[in-house]
Amino acid sequence: METKFKKIGILTSGGDAPGMNSVIKSVTCAAINQGVEVVGILGGYSGLINDRIKPLTKNDVAGIVSLGGTFLYSDRCDEFKTEEGMQKAIATCKKHNIDGIIAIGGDGTFRGATDLSIRGIPCIGVSGTIDNDITASDITVGYDTAMNTVMKLGDALRDTCESHARCNVIEVMGRNAGYIAIETGLALNAIGVAVQEIPFDKEALFEKMNEARKNGKRSFIVVVAEGLGAEFSEGLVTEIEEKTGIETRFVRPAHIVRGGIPTLADRNFAAKCGYKAVELLLNGVSDVVVVSRHDQIVSMEIKFALILDRMYKNKLKDDDLEGFTVEQIKQMKEICKERHDYFVNMYEVVNAIGY
Ligand code: F6P
Repeated sequence: METKFKKIGILTSGGDAPGMNSVIKSVTCAAINQGVEVVGILGGYSGLINDRIKPLTKNDVAGIVSLGGTFLYSDRCDEFKTEEGMQKAIATCKKHNIDGIIAIGGDGTFRGATDLSIRGIPCIGVSGTIDNDITASDITVGYDTAMNTVMKLGDALRDTCESHARCNVIEVMGRNAGYIAIETGLALNAIGVAVQEIPFDKEALFEKMNEARKNGKRSFIVVVAEGLGAEFSEGLVTEIEEKTGIETRFVRPAHIVRGGIPTLADRNFAAKCGYKAVELLLNGVSDVVVVSRHDQIVSMEIKFALILDRMYKNKLKDDDLEGFTVEQIKQMKEICKERHDYFVNMYEVVNAIGY
């Protein structure tokens, strides 16, 4: 491949996610194999502002795919949102002759990537977040591992619940998205799953639990998405005990779910995204994010992806759709509908077959 790029940078930003290391490894090897140097930017955008740059060789990244967390460290960086911070970041790129950047993270990371692209540093985003809350992508790097971690914890809770004829409420991460809750709820055969996106019928849950207990069911798992807040999830424990008489315990695995050995699905998805990101960047593409759509690894303009996300989350501002064609807006609506339908269907299934 003929490319004008001589050196590219890679960073991970925002909450870490298992599989990020697989993107790093994939990007590093794919680029070096094209004769392009790679540097790691340590600690996300703050590393770019503060000139924390580390050259990467293939040996440096050998063996990191099986590690959780991010080998390049991460940060949530407010300074990068300012023009001054942005200019410092650009100065670092110039100082080290960084021709382009691959940025792994969530929507905040993509906003940073688009801001840099506009200012002349070509960037490609790769989705890395356990929350699966990037509307543009059917799945995100880290999501599968997080779900599997919750599943394992939930299985362990099931054992002790069965022994003691108890219920356990598990509050799982996901920020404002209920994907982890819904999918793990199904995998754990939870009797109820409560998420922020859909009103939860507590009385129906209590009724179901009472009926199940009458029929001899001993253990119960209820999964609650963190988006509903601590008051809701912790309060539910007391309410279950009051309304059903079933002894109930509470667990919040929190950041445990963000660490750990990445699953095969995450490692391989991450590796493919990294490869695609390098291919795009070296071919002169910029300001796009690599996403998964219907099992295909494709790219989407970051601006499109960000506005699509706002549309899905009902956060569109008045002028957000200005500049998009009728066809693009139609496409956004179709993606939102597809995602919404999937979510609602999953919610119905999980709450319908819990008992
Ligand atoms: O976005 C990933 C995530 O782990 C969310 O699930 C959670 O709400 C948030 O980050 C926690 O953020 P922090 O690591 O800053 O506590």
